[in-house]
Amino acid sequence: MVASSARGLLAAGLAAVGFSVNTRSSDEASCTAPYALGPDGLDFYTPPSTLPDGDHGSLIWYRPYDNGSATMTGGANTLLLYTQVGIHGNTVATSGYMVVPDGDAPDGGWPVVTFAHGTTGIADQCAPTIDDPSYDEDTKTVLLESWIKKGYAVVRTDYEGLGTPGDHPYLIGPSEGRAVLDIVRAARQFEPSLGSRVVISGHSQGGHAALWAASMAAEYTPELEVLGTIAFAPANSLETEVPLLSAVGNITSLSGTVALIVRGLAIANASLDTTSIWTPDALQYYPETLTECSTFLDGNSSFGSVGANDLIASGANLTDILAQLKENDPTYITSIPQPVLVLQGSDDTTVYPFTTAAMVKNLKANGIDITEQIYDGATHLSIIDVAAANATAYLEATFNTLFNGEWVPNN
Ligand SMILES: *[C@@H]1O[C@H](CO)[C@@H](O)[C@H](O)[C@H]1NC(C)=O
Ligand SMILES: *[C@@H]1O[C@H](CO)[C@@H](O)[C@H](O)[C@H]1NC(C)=O
Ligand SMILES: *[C@@H]1O[C@H](CO)[C@@H](O)[C@H](O)[C@H]1NC(C)=O
Ligand SMILES: *[C@@H]1O[C@H](CO)[C@@H](O)[C@H](O)[C@H]1NC(C)=O
Ligand SMILES: *[C@@H]1O[C@H](CO)[C@@H](O)[C@H](O)[C@H]1NC(C)=O
Ligand SMILES: *[C@@H]1O[C@H](CO)[C@@H](O)[C@H](O)[C@H]1NC(C)=O
Repeated sequence: MVASSARGLLAAGLAAVGFSVNTRSSDEASCTAPYALGPDGLDFYTPPSTLPDGDHGSLIWYRPYDNGSATMTGGANTLLLYTQVGIHGNTVATSGYMVVPDGDAPDGGWPVVTFAHGTTGIADQCAPTIDDPSYDEDTKTVLLESWIKKGYAVVRTDYEGLGTPGDHPYLIGPSEGRAVLDIVRAARQFEPSLGSRVVISGHSQGGHAALWAASMAAEYTPELEVLGTIAFAPANSLETEVPLLSAVGNITSLSGTVALIVRGLAIANASLDTTSIWTPDALQYYPETLTECSTFLDGNSSFGSVGANDLIASGANLTDILAQLKENDPTYITSIPQPVLVLQGSDDTTVYPFTTAAMVKNLKANGIDITEQIYDGATHLSIIDVAAANATAYLEATFNTLFNGEWVPNN
């Protein structure tokens, strides 16, 4: 059988690079073309012309990930290129990586956390798995490494179009949600020791992505048993915040992010006019949203030199932009079947506590089992560190509930 000899080659290839071999039965393996070791360098991020013809979440290829800025200790890091349903309904290739804890998987397979990252930008080099020096996720790495050590496999998408062909639909909920869920499928295809039980998590843009993923999972990836969601400072209510920009004075810390937010809408909807809304000061930098990462955009040779009150031209018609922001606002999600924990800092000046409180209230009114914890003095970045112990306790409790208190990770 062609498939089994291909499997043999694959096994030899994997063994040559020091990998354990996929142990799926040959019946299963014969259903799909075996995935391959991906190319070195940035070629990894460009898929072959023929994508796997399986369902979304199919692994295209993989590569050991041992030297990227996002690698984590405590397990084997593997870069993945996989399929998801893209923003226009087409199949696209999305990158990300997985970390499988050292040691033997428990019965039922490793529990999985799919963790969505915060804003890095829209340009390809801003993908966390591509070595861009602006990617600094130290606090998240500390938290996630502690989870890996406790026996959770961690998977992290780069998101649609970030690093891969096509533009990244920044803060577009359905695109993010599919990226966050499909990487779990692809990771389980590569490593069958990953179980079907999943907790969804993320920070900032990734908190937004996590809420969308949680709302979509039952339909989009029904084989996954999502147990709960942990959202750190999830982006929300942008249609409320954008009209307030002119009133917040000459602060410059949000301008780069606002430009990315508007660009994300334009990427999702080419009919939306997003160039006529800017002042000349802002318009000159708007093209940089497609070529530069957040650190640069936030700097004073770009949007970091433009005050919030000097971004949007007076009299700009924001009607359509605000409508599209509202469509991607997790505040209006109508169903998340499992419990959600939201962790918010009281001193967060990026995701404001008052909008998060309103979001939580609305989601509760929609019947969602959601708890908010507010951390006094915590900021948009420090929330990860400050809330880490409670997030971990919630993660453990989520699995404990399922296992009647008998869930013992390998710590
Ligand atoms: C690790 O990555 C850096 C930056 O891309 C590169 O200069 C270095 O040669 C790599 N080291 C190894 C061992 O691959
Ligand atoms: C795209 O934007 C146009 C112009 O604002 C709007 O009329 C249309 O409804 C939007 N399309 C979608 C799918 O939201
Ligand atoms: C940017 O602004 C900072 C803080 O105001 C300042 O220290 C720095 O010199 C500026 N850099 C440039 C290139 O203007
Ligand atoms: C706003 O702040 C920026 C950066 O600090 C500065 O370059 C600019 O001149 C200020 N604009 C106004 C109108 O005060
Ligand atoms: C603003 O745009 C909306 C939607 O395209 C349109 O219906 C409305 O008439 C516009 N308002 C003004 C004042 O032009
Ligand atoms: C963190 O968890 C502890 C223990 O359950 C709880 O008492 C505390 O209120 C939580 N912190 C916040 C800010 O909600």
